[in-house]
Amino acid sequence: MPTFRTIKSLTQCLKGYRTAGLRVGFVPTMGFLHAGHRALIEESVARCDITVVSLFVNPTQFGPNEDLDRYPRALEADHDLCRTAGVNLIFVPDASEIYPPGFQTYVEPGPVAEPLCGAVRPGHFRGVATVVTKLFNIVQPDVAFFGQKDFQQCAVIRQLVRDLNLPIEIVTVPTVREPDGLALSSRNSYLSAADRARARCLSRGLFAAHAAFQAGERDSQRLVETAQAQMTEVDQLQYLQLVDARTLEPILGSVEQPAALCVAACVGTTRLIDNVLLIPPPQALADHELELVSHVIGRQATAGAAGPRPS
Ligand code: PAJ
Repeated sequence: MPTFRTIKSLTQCLKGYRTAGLRVGFVPTMGFLHAGHRALIEESVARCDITVVSLFVNPTQFGPNEDLDRYPRALEADHDLCRTAGVNLIFVPDASEIYPPGFQTYVEPGPVAEPLCGAVRPGHFRGVATVVTKLFNIVQPDVAFFGQKDFQQCAVIRQLVRDLNLPIEIVTVPTVREPDGLALSSRNSYLSAADRARARCLSRGLFAAHAAFQAGERDSQRLVETAQAQMTEVDQLQYLQLVDARTLEPILGSVEQPAALCVAACVGTTRLIDNVLLIPPPQALADHELELVSHVIGRQATAGAAGPRPS
């Protein structure tokens, strides 16, 4: 499986595939791949003729006091996972290939990037939007795959593709979890055994709120409180918010539209995020909301299984 380090060599190879009329799927990642990334890759392999994976720890999406320097890397293991999952090409650029000297143009996302992680990590989504736009321009995929685990990132990318008229279909893949519910993340490798045990309370809280919602609870405050009651073991709850699934604006009062309950918390020195979708039954939704649901939760929409499931 060829690995490309330069934009020139990658684009030359991709040109051949495009001329042959093959459908190109793209999975952007920062490497240290796990079963969550693998789910995105498998979705691409199933839907496309060619699957391209990028492994690039993007410096512009890290704040000055964040974990850029210690972000975990395992190129060989990533290569193995890609090969066994059916990836056709890997793109592993150096930072200077993506941000050469003199680089100065950024993509600035709008209000969808402001709440939640946007408020806690200023500039983060500007870095994400910039690198994803660049990668889209380099790879020129037909379809790109993103994980629901980074719910706000998905919303930012969907908005970006719409606003900038990028001819790319965005597919969101449901969150892959550990058997006890913890969402898989490259950053889970930072957790000590004791912190790992405490981290479970995040998904436990989200599942409790989801169960309450399924049982008919619609009051946003009570849903948040139900989740929060379980999340006492974390060291710092950065946010726990119930938001509109499209705009990410807070929902106050009754939840009548597709919504997401999103959490970010520190366990020890590790920052974790997770979310769960709260989707009213189809008959309660307007057509445009149903369409949104099928975009946001992908193939689960038709299966009616929007709820969280520890894998
Ligand atoms: P990274 O954190 O490596 O994640 C790459 C992709 O994998 C993202 O779309 C993310 O949502 C998805 N993913 C991570 N954990 C997942 C899980 N447990 N289940 C399902 N999908 C999961 O997100 C980034 O990198 C970067 O911001 C990037 C988009 C590559 C831009 O630099």
